[in-house]
Amino acid sequence: MKKSAVFVLFGSTGDLALKKLLPSLYSLHCQGELGDDFKIVAVGRREFDHKDFVDFIQQSVAANSRYVCDYRFISFSERISYFKMDFQLEEDYQSLSTSLLSDSLLQSGELPLIFYMATAPDFFRDITQGLAGAGFFERLKNPKRLVLEKPFGHDLASASEFNAIFSKYFTEEEIFRTDHYLGKEMVQNILSMRFANPIFEKIWNSEFIDNIQITVFETEGIGSRGGYYDSTGALRDMVQSHLLQILSLLAMERPSDLEIESLRDRKVEVIKNIKLEKVDSHQDIVFGQYVANQELGLKGYLDEEKVGAESSTETFAALKLTVDSPRWRGVPFFLRTGKRCGKRLAYVVVEFSESGSSLFPSEDLSNLLVIKIQPDEGIYLQLRAKSLGSSSQVIPVSLDYSAACSVSGRGVEAYERILSDAIDANHQLFTRWDEIESSWKFIDNVGQICGCGICLDDYQAGTPGPEAAARLIGDSNRSWREII
Ligand code: BG6
Repeated sequence: MKKSAVFVLFGSTGDLALKKLLPSLYSLHCQGELGDDFKIVAVGRREFDHKDFVDFIQQSVAANSRYVCDYRFISFSERISYFKMDFQLEEDYQSLSTSLLSDSLLQSGELPLIFYMATAPDFFRDITQGLAGAGFFERLKNPKRLVLEKPFGHDLASASEFNAIFSKYFTEEEIFRTDHYLGKEMVQNILSMRFANPIFEKIWNSEFIDNIQITVFETEGIGSRGGYYDSTGALRDMVQSHLLQILSLLAMERPSDLEIESLRDRKVEVIKNIKLEKVDSHQDIVFGQYVANQELGLKGYLDEEKVGAESSTETFAALKLTVDSPRWRGVPFFLRTGKRCGKRLAYVVVEFSESGSSLFPSEDLSNLLVIKIQPDEGIYLQLRAKSLGSSSQVIPVSLDYSAACSVSGRGVEAYERILSDAIDANHQLFTRWDEIESSWKFIDNVGQICGCGICLDDYQAGTPGPEAAARLIGDSNRSWREII
């Protein structure tokens, strides 16, 4: 069925809207998924008329979407209207309310109204309260939804405060908290891998798994986001959300069914049970900050725009965690993520144990299950096999599935799924409040430990993080499994 809604996009001139949201909506339009009564109200602070706004977004939509087609862009642009407002001005909320409520599409009272918050997080609250102050929610007859970009708060207290505000006007059913990593093909595939393959189900535990590693490296620095990033850092920006979500999918118990709430119940159980093994020391945490790399012409973090001259914000974080449950007793989970780490690379490695003495001893060739999230998407299983010829030596071989080989053209962008599900009111790719709550509890705890004097290791921009990250894993005679 075609999608119908009035989609109000706050922050429509920002980076996220230009690079992800509008191109993804355009892809949905090109695929014929949007009905005639799907309309986009683009809200922003800049002065644009309709034509200027359309010209402003065109290049970015073309560059970031799966489709390039002039005539379809024209029909897409006809769905859009631009509304300029100042998020601090009461009268602007009155005008927005009047404009939305008088929209002929909303008159039937059935078409859903979706608010998508893609502004700086501080405005999420102002916008919700501004609309409430204008009496909008009382007057609206239509079903409504609120889609919130991350970060959802910057600690447990602020997240709870946020939640209390949104919960005044929206039910939990109406709130969609995004974590776009949940929309990535191979992150979704974790569940299928685990629960559609009996061979894995039986061995997905501490008896057979030695350790699990999650790596998310980025090539880019912080660009123009210094204002946000300098008060956030890698732990809160990436670990609290994307990495803990991936971990929860890898470690969850078998759900009773694939219903959304059953899955969320299982995920939240994991997040509540995540622990740092050595709570009182810093041995399980490494923080780093990138410094200039003259050879590659990359500047250091402290020279980035809007970053404090003596900032101690971490641009790299590595952690050794455990999940306190019978299934995972004794299995370390190693997480690492950083900006300016040389490559854009996200993947999971499940390293299987060496059980007993092998008839074919070979060092460092453990069986590995590798889930490649980006830029390549796929899964491979590293096994040992006899090398060709007269030697009986065993060598690593891999059974490899590449998602790119199975689709033609560019793969589906995570935000297409996120938007599509939000429009359909499907909660599968969104996080429930208790997931956010428990992940902030854990991160606040780590933050407190770090606040008591964790040292910040330098790493050269363009390299895969500080040396100390190798020590974090090396202490247990393991090593980060690098993939290319
Ligand atoms: C966002 C973070 O959630 O994810 C950014 O705030 C980060 O700092 C981005 O760059 C990474 O997303 P992706 O899809 O490019 O890996």
